[in-house]
Amino acid sequence: MAVVDPRSGFVSLVAGASSSRLPVAVPTLPTADEVLPYLRRIDASGWYSNFGPLVRELEARLASRFAHPTEVVTVANGTLGLTLALQALDLPRGGLCAIPSWTFVATAHAVRMAGLTPWFVDVEPEGGQLTPDLLSEVLPRAPGPVVAAMPVSVMGRPVSVESWVAFREATGLPVILDAAAGFDAVHDATVPVMVSLHATKALGIGEGAFLATRDPVLARRWRALTNFAFMGDRTARFPATNAKLSEYAAAVGLAALEIWPDTRNRYIAAARRLRIALSDEPRVCFQPGWGLDWISSTCLVSLPEGSAEDVGMALARAEVETRRWWGQGCHAAPAFADCPADRLAATRRLADSSLGLPFFAHMQPEHINRVARALKLALNSPVGEGTPT
Ligand SMILES: Cc1ncc(COP(=O)(O)O)c(C=O)c1O
Repeated sequence: MAVVDPRSGFVSLVAGASSSRLPVAVPTLPTADEVLPYLRRIDASGWYSNFGPLVRELEARLASRFAHPTEVVTVANGTLGLTLALQALDLPRGGLCAIPSWTFVATAHAVRMAGLTPWFVDVEPEGGQLTPDLLSEVLPRAPGPVVAAMPVSVMGRPVSVESWVAFREATGLPVILDAAAGFDAVHDATVPVMVSLHATKALGIGEGAFLATRDPVLARRWRALTNFAFMGDRTARFPATNAKLSEYAAAVGLAALEIWPDTRNRYIAAARRLRIALSDEPRVCFQPGWGLDWISSTCLVSLPEGSAEDVGMALARAEVETRRWWGQGCHAAPAFADCPADRLAATRRLADSSLGLPFFAHMQPEHINRVARALKLALNSPVGEGTPT
């Protein structure tokens, strides 16, 4: 049976599944047996939260994945991580934070939670990324003082950190990179970066995330922001919250890192098979380098302009689940209707031509062939048809 989480709509394949519906995503987390040795360490230490040995070990292991000496601070989830990273900058309340509209709503929620106002800007028409060049072009027509920028890695796609460093130096604006899905691609924290460890991400632990920076002073402030603004004593120095990761979450994280090489190989193998199965269909474009140089837990393709909805419906009739992960763009959500937005032509086109296809680490060749067959049929059928028999 496929089990649907009623809150997220996220579907899991459960052993013995009888449904023929192919889910758009299936999380890969360590099994209870894989986590157990770490749980035993918690039993032995009697340390359950407050930066215990497992959290420290997880942070050290995550930091060792970076190219330069880097500080990693774990947080309870990515949305809080972005919020705290912005709060740490002490920016004037209500100032504009430039973000792409082509992102998940969490980016904009975090800006608001940090007391700033999202200013939605457009992205590259092809890759969907907000680039420093694009932002520099629109900055002169900002509807108020811009105090920060938060570019987003599109579904884990690598971002040019050097170009954002150059932007930061040229404009004086702080930059925080939202690389929620970027676990595999992020290896440089010269620009402060957030990576989510939500169950839907490539390295999932349930709920959790980490912030990374090369600046130890900033990392110290982040840590205090996750822990009541305590800095070595019990004095609350500034407004803060509790956003710590528990030792139990860290146990899952350490177990997930242990199986990561295998998980990554599986994702890569499935992605390459999917690419090959659709290689004779030039109207389906994968993200550059996806499954070749980097991987994520989602498969985002771009389709002929304006066709995402019809193709998604045709695949649904074939019981192949798809997801328009970022809907019409963040600016279209009622929660942000009062926020300023620049021209968003590329965002609108991307929203109408991007589709998330079923993708997961344990995807079997028959799943891949089914997706490819249904997609080709949908693209070759008049609107309203396209159900494979
Ligand atoms: C682009 C983006 N930013 C932020 C987040 C928030 O991360 P979390 O779910 O860990 O709060 C997500 C989650 O999917 C995301 O896709």
